[in-house]
Amino acid sequence: MTPQNQPAYAVPKLTDFSAPALDKAAKDLLAALENESTKVKNEGDLKTFRDRWMARKDGILTHVNHLWLKAAPKDAKRDVGQRVNQLKAEVEQKIESALQQSQNAGPQSRGDAERIDISLPALRRPIGAEHPVIKTMNEIVGVFRNLGYSVEEGPVIESDYYNFESLNFPPNHPARDTQDTLFIANQESKPQRERLLLRTHTSPVQIRTMEKMKPPLRIVIPGKVHRNDPPDASHSPMFHQVEGLAVDTNITFGDLKGTLDHAMKMLFGSSVKTSFRPSFFPFTEPSAEMMVSCFICGGSGKRVVGTKEEPCRPCKQSGWIEILGCGMVDPNVFGFVKENGYDPKKISGFAFGMGADRIALLKYGVDDIQLFFQGDVRFLEQFG
Ligand code: DAH
Repeated sequence: MTPQNQPAYAVPKLTDFSAPALDKAAKDLLAALENESTKVKNEGDLKTFRDRWMARKDGILTHVNHLWLKAAPKDAKRDVGQRVNQLKAEVEQKIESALQQSQNAGPQSRGDAERIDISLPALRRPIGAEHPVIKTMNEIVGVFRNLGYSVEEGPVIESDYYNFESLNFPPNHPARDTQDTLFIANQESKPQRERLLLRTHTSPVQIRTMEKMKPPLRIVIPGKVHRNDPPDASHSPMFHQVEGLAVDTNITFGDLKGTLDHAMKMLFGSSVKTSFRPSFFPFTEPSAEMMVSCFICGGSGKRVVGTKEEPCRPCKQSGWIEILGCGMVDPNVFGFVKENGYDPKKISGFAFGMGADRIALLKYGVDDIQLFFQGDVRFLEQFG
């Protein structure tokens, strides 16, 4: 960047801090700046130029700071400081104009053949489509919003307290084993309830919401969850759930059944039926699993393909598809938020949780959950 035979400019060490000496030093610096800036022709030059003058570690301005400002005797500091600030501004301005210069020079300097052809159509950016899992979650949430539920969310990195303890999984209770939890490393020095993990379900948001909102409450909670499951056609270590919680005076299992039956008809069509069978979750009592009649074979367990009758795979020929877990909120859970108005003697509630990915698989007839997360546009654009 410097003319041949002339050494590159280097910031001199100052011993004389008188006004004339400072004037001279500034003049030399500005001359070098001017000289080098005229040689910036392209982006590569610009970067070299900018680094040479502005690099924090070894740039000319840094040297000026050290050799002039820091070295200045007390009584000259003010004057030197003002001059250095001015020089800084000049350097910044020169870099800015060198930037303009290199941009203007750009296309021409690459030769006429590469000049921008403004008659070419612009590159198209595909708009993309809503992801089928997000779409399904939005549909589920929409059904409950129409029933007056509000939407709540919570953190994916959760504490043991919210993911387990306050949901009535006592420390070391075997029900924790069913959750295949992914724990955050190096938490052993904390008390157990404060240790962090990837939430295994959206249920922790039940407690988080009850801590901040008094009853009555009706909420849906969409979100990402993680479990230590090896990926296969129906498992993914990351998946999605939609949780629901309704708390009020006199909420009964009848309300639970009526609400979920309505929701399933909205989601899968008015002809589906629902069926409940007993189950266990630590945070509900009684607990149930809900099945919907298979909306693919209409509950017959068989599918007619062409002229042939085939066994229906999605429902494994049973005519029913297991879709969610649910139950009446266990009084012990209310016990953790009793101070906020959740006295189990006065109020009751129901809760439910469903896997959104599984529902999306069924709805869209996709047979491998991995396809949802591979980011292949050829797969995803089919849902546009
Ligand atoms: N959290 C449960 C799970 O991931 C699903 C669930 C079951 C949620 C019953 C609920 C419920 O709110 O009442 O396996």
